[in-house]
Order: sequence, then C-alpha cells, then structure tokens
Amino acid sequence: MSERYTVTAALPYANGPIHIGHLAGAYIPADIYVRYLRLKGKDVVFICGSDEHGVAISIKAKKEGITPNEVINKYHNIIKKSFEKFGISFDHYSRTSSIIHKTTAQDFFKKMSQKKCFMLKDTIQYFDKEHHQFLPDRFVTGECPKCGYENAYGDQCEACGSSLNVEDLINPKSTLSGNEPTQKSTSHWFLKLDESEKFLKEWIDSKKNKNWKSNVLGQVKSWLDEGLKPRAVTRDLNWGIPVPLKGGENKVLYVWFDAPIGYISATKEWANLNNKEWESYWKEKETKLIHFIGKDNIVFHCIIFPAILKSMGDFILPTNVPANEFLNLEGKKLSTSKNWAIWLDDFMIDFPGKQDVLRYVLTVNAPETKDNDFTWNDFQLKNNSELVAIYGNFVNRVTVLIHKYYRGVVPSKNELNDDDNYIFDQLTKAPIKIGSLINEFKFREGCKEMMNLARIGNKYLADEEPWKKIKNHTKRVETIMYNAVQIAVSLAFLSAPFIPETSEKLLKILNIKIYPTWNHILPNKIIKSGHEIGTPKLLFDKIEDEQISIQKEKLINR
Ligand code: 2FM
Ligand code: ZN
Repeated sequence: MSERYTVTAALPYANGPIHIGHLAGAYIPADIYVRYLRLKGKDVVFICGSDEHGVAISIKAKKEGITPNEVINKYHNIIKKSFEKFGISFDHYSRTSSIIHKTTAQDFFKKMSQKKCFMLKDTIQYFDKEHHQFLPDRFVTGECPKCGYENAYGDQCEACGSSLNVEDLINPKSTLSGNEPTQKSTSHWFLKLDESEKFLKEWIDSKKNKNWKSNVLGQVKSWLDEGLKPRAVTRDLNWGIPVPLKGGENKVLYVWFDAPIGYISATKEWANLNNKEWESYWKEKETKLIHFIGKDNIVFHCIIFPAILKSMGDFILPTNVPANEFLNLEGKKLSTSKNWAIWLDDFMIDFPGKQDVLRYVLTVNAPETKDNDFTWNDFQLKNNSELVAIYGNFVNRVTVLIHKYYRGVVPSKNELNDDDNYIFDQLTKAPIKIGSLINEFKFREGCKEMMNLARIGNKYLADEEPWKKIKNHTKRVETIMYNAVQIAVSLAFLSAPFIPETSEKLLKILNIKIYPTWNHILPNKIIKSGHEIGTPKLLFDKIEDEQISIQKEKLINR
C-alpha cells in the first residue's frame, strides 16, 4: 500500500486577507510538498480552513463596526477565493464555524475532561471596567517581555514571534478602552500540560536526526526546559465554541484549543464528501502527519496539540512540523495593522498571470532557516534574470529551433559523446536529488536545483552552438536538439511542484500527454524521436522598472 500523508497548513484567522508573509510561511511550502507527494503517487490529503474564533475576530468586528459573524463570512470568502485563484491546491478548505467542527471540538473537550486532563481553577484575569468584560489574549496589548516591542498582543508578539501569556505584558492596556486593566476573579479549565512533559520530552528527543528543523527543535526544547505549567483552555468570551460542561455557561473554548482540532473536523468533512474514511488519516500509525506553519505557531503544534492528541489515546502525533521563520518586507517587519504588507489579491490584480513568479521568488527566498527579506527589486531581478533569462530563454530556444530545423518533430538521437552523457546523467539524477530536498523540506535548494537544469540546458546549447553546425554537421545537430528536448521535458515535470502553471504550459508546448510518476521522469522515456511538439510560446516576460516603482510608491503611500 502506498504511504498515506495528512498535510495541514495553518488555519488563517478570518480577520483579514492573505499577504506574502502567510504565503512564504506556510502555504507555498505546503503546496510544493503536497504537489510533489501527489506526483510520487502517494495517498495525500491537504487540509486547511479559516480560523474563525478567538479575540482576533472580535477585535476586527469592533473595528469594522460589524458582527463577528459578518467578519468571518466576509474574510472566509475572500481568503478561500484568493487561495483558489493563486493555485494553492488544498483538497479541502473548511472553516471552524462549521457544525461538524463545533461537535468535534466539544467531543474532544468532553472526552478529555472524562480522562481528567483538566483541572478547574480560580484565577485572576484582566478586566475592563468600562466595557464590563474580561480581557483575555489580544484584548490586552503591551510591551513584549522578550523583545521590548511596544504593541505586543496578550497571546503573541508580532515582532519576535514569541507566544505570550497576557499577564507577561509590561504596561498592559485594554484594546477596548485603552485603559489599564483592572483584575477580577473567574474560574477556568486548565490543561494539565505538566503531566505531558515527560512524554513530550521523549517524543521530541525521538525527532533528532529525523529531518526536523533546528529552529523548531530549539524552540520546543526551550519551552520544555522552562518546565510546562497547566494552561487555561477556556475563556470568558461570548465568541467561540461554548464550553460543553456544567459551569461552562458564558465561557468558550480557547481558540488555540479548537483551531488545531479544525484540521480533524476538516478532514471529516472532506472524507464525507469524497467517500473516504477520515480515521485512517488521523489514527493509523502508517499515516504521516505534517503541519506547515509559521514560527509563531510552533508551541501550539509541537506541545499543546500533541498533548491533546496523545491524551485522546488513539490519534497519531505529528511526523514533522516544518515551521518557517518570518518574511520581512523591504527591510521591515510585515505588519497587518500598519498595512506594511503585499496583499495577495492586490498582487494578482497588478500582476495578472504572474502567480508562478511570486511562488518562485518566495520559494528561493523562503525564510526556511532564518528571517528573510522580500524586496521589489529582488522580485524584478529574479523574474528577469532567472525566470525569463534562464528558464524561459532555454525553453524558447529549444522549441523555436525544433520548429526551425525539423518542423516541430523531435529528431533522432544518433551517437552520444561524453558531453551528451553528462546531460543524461544529470537528468537521471535530477528527480532523486530534487525529490530528496523536497522530502527534507529544503524547498529553496530544491527549487534552485530545478532552475539548474535550465542553466545546464542553456550552457549545453551555448557550448554546442547548433546554429553554427546546422549546415555541415546535421547528424550532430539532431543529437544536440534531441538532448535539449529531453532537458526541457525534465524541466517541465520537475518544476511542477514549484511553478505549477508554468509546468502545465510547458507540457502543453511540448505536447506531452502522459504523466509519469516522479521517479519515472527520466530522459528518453517520455518524448522520443518522431514526437511532434506544439507551438513555441513565451513562458515569462520582463518586468519593467516602472512597474516596480509603482509598487514601491504604493507601499510608501499607504
Ligand atoms: O496564527 C494564526 O494565524 C492562527 N490562526 C493559526 C492557527 S493554526 C491551527 F492550529 F489552526
Ligand atoms: Zn517580542
């Protein structure tokens, strides 16, 4: 039986549109990985959906003067559509306001309560007297105790990515009234995380040398070294999933309790729609569970959610959590509140049909091991000097010459020399090389290797100069062009996880109608002499200085 994979990408809050930071952090890497797995012929489900609970939604509702329900409907639809348009290939995009999710999350809570995973505890919480409301999580802002950023949220610092507790903030302020909060007692359910510490330590230790990223392991270890404490999983709010137990009136589940369970409810929904068994994707030991997230979500996916899954008894634990670091924009932190971002929908309006350019730039520049910077100049450079000048140029040269010399029909292979054998050797190794890099979540390197094939192709043509040999060495030119077509074929298939639209266009140009699995993307196997290719077409075009200046100005004049 082929291996089974459950791949999830962080559920975005339905409180605003998607920007390039989201794409680079979780969605593009997840999509590359999933497309690769599918090409390998694996059984894979790719799950995502909108995260529709939590204070982030209530705050947005207050800001826009609409109800939380209106907020989630508005942004769920915006986000869902932009993912579709951009080509993130989820098998299912759900939402945590669904009935199935409410039932699933409440079932988890009830079962965990029966299993004595919680303790009910009286606590002192921040309270806004003016608004007669408790102030959990993002209802309080203040100075981050880790990096000093002045506007950190009660649950998380946008600047350094640290997960925080609301009482950690220095100089706390209510986001409702702006006042310093007062304190009031209330009782909550606390997940006894301390009781999971031993198992989590052993589990994380078992991940050494298993392709886990060092940034992820490092963060998890430092949490574990500090010692885990019971953590409240309910809140005094009116927006969220009601606590399904006596004493839980007027309380809801903490958003970070219900959101990851959203991956499971979304899988159930997908299974119902597709005649599948959801449980095999969450309970069978052979299934690999991979969570793609940004670094600010590490603690929830590597400590809290595994503790929840483990306590349920029959769920698998994450096989890997390849979290990315942060992407900056023009040297500054991306910030939704300061509108310092490139919004996906704006990009698709300003650069129609250039989804692959953004995918490519965000992949070769991905914040895989450290924070990284997106600049418009670099975007232009990578488009013009890599996609246009290397990939596009190679494909164009090959297809135009095949038409010019052979009316579009791939010529004979004839006799091969050492240089030709070198090309075949590279093409034979390429799927394994690129595949292992993708398997190890090294998408930057994988994508660079893919582009290297086009480089090799360009160099081969430049060295062989078929245009000079066509008069007197016709047999040799046949071989050169046969080989060049083989490179283009490999490029078409091996670029599919990274730049899927381009890959499809190229397959069409090459008139390829068979789809080998990844390991069979080999020279001489897919296109042979006598095959007729389609009409040459430019795959990429230059981005002019003016287009870039417009974008830079747009950023500054926000
Ligand atoms: O940080 C965020 O944007 C969260 N909405 C991510 C949730 S991921 C998952 F657990 F649902
Ligand atoms: Zn911070």
